[in-house]
Amino acid sequence: MAGLASAGPTTAGLASAPLRSAGERQGNTRRYLMCRPDHFTVSYRINPWMHPEDPTDTSLAVQQWESLHAAYLALGHDIELIEPGAGLPDMVFAANGGFTLDGIAYGAKFTHPERAPEGPAYMDWFRDAGFRVIEPEFVNEGEGDIMLVGDTILAGTGFRTDPRSHDEVRRVFDREVLSLTLVNPSFYHLDTAISVLDPLSGDAAANIAYLPEAFDADGNRLLEQRYPDAIRVSTEDAAVLGLNSISDGRNVVIAARAVGFDAQLRERGYHPIGVDLSELLLGGGGVKCCTLELRS
Ligand code: ARG
Repeated sequence: MAGLASAGPTTAGLASAPLRSAGERQGNTRRYLMCRPDHFTVSYRINPWMHPEDPTDTSLAVQQWESLHAAYLALGHDIELIEPGAGLPDMVFAANGGFTLDGIAYGAKFTHPERAPEGPAYMDWFRDAGFRVIEPEFVNEGEGDIMLVGDTILAGTGFRTDPRSHDEVRRVFDREVLSLTLVNPSFYHLDTAISVLDPLSGDAAANIAYLPEAFDADGNRLLEQRYPDAIRVSTEDAAVLGLNSISDGRNVVIAARAVGFDAQLRERGYHPIGVDLSELLLGGGGVKCCTLELRS
């Protein structure tokens, strides 16, 4: 984030503070699945961000998505692509296509009929890529609501994913699954309210960033207990989907407009990289939404 490095009193103050250097954190290369937004537009409304009456610019969406793609390649990540489906404007939001771990792909079953065909399309891709595919019994929107933190799976519900799928995930992956209830319709997927910062570390070291007001009281208690050292972001940063980010343990790709979160990450020794996905934000999605991690 070249522009932000020199901006504002907070960042200037930080430059002289005795910070843990970013070099101490270790990034690991990852494998991600993405879908070019060739058919992106906003033609229906299934979240409060979407306004079908307003115009969208598909070529700008593609251009911004290309910059995210390029940022991942520059970090050394392996990127796989799935063919975008005509008539599936939200298919660019690959995170919702499923959840993979241990070579198993738990398929998605979408809440809204507009996105339903994406479930089988992603499952076909996983099958072709050699994953053991588990067809879901219950509604779930993949990594949008199912996130791996260390050895624990955080699972969201409230707007999209059926809590019964949390038990399904527990059975399929034989991991601890913590259920969290979302309460703010603007943060309708777990990945709009939580960012996993060091996904590979053991539970003791694993950390997250989150927006407390996106969760009910039980959720907040649980998050405070499990992640006492978590970054709590401002409403302003969450409102540009700043939490909807991808970390490799060191480099955190975030919304360029999430200036406060950028500073919080730097204070902790992470290396934030800002990208502008303003056009995709019109669909209610950001960096993480465009990215599905492939864990074989
Ligand atoms: N328009 C899409 C929907 O409402 C956006 C999905 C964003 N994806 C995410 N992982 N949060 O379903």
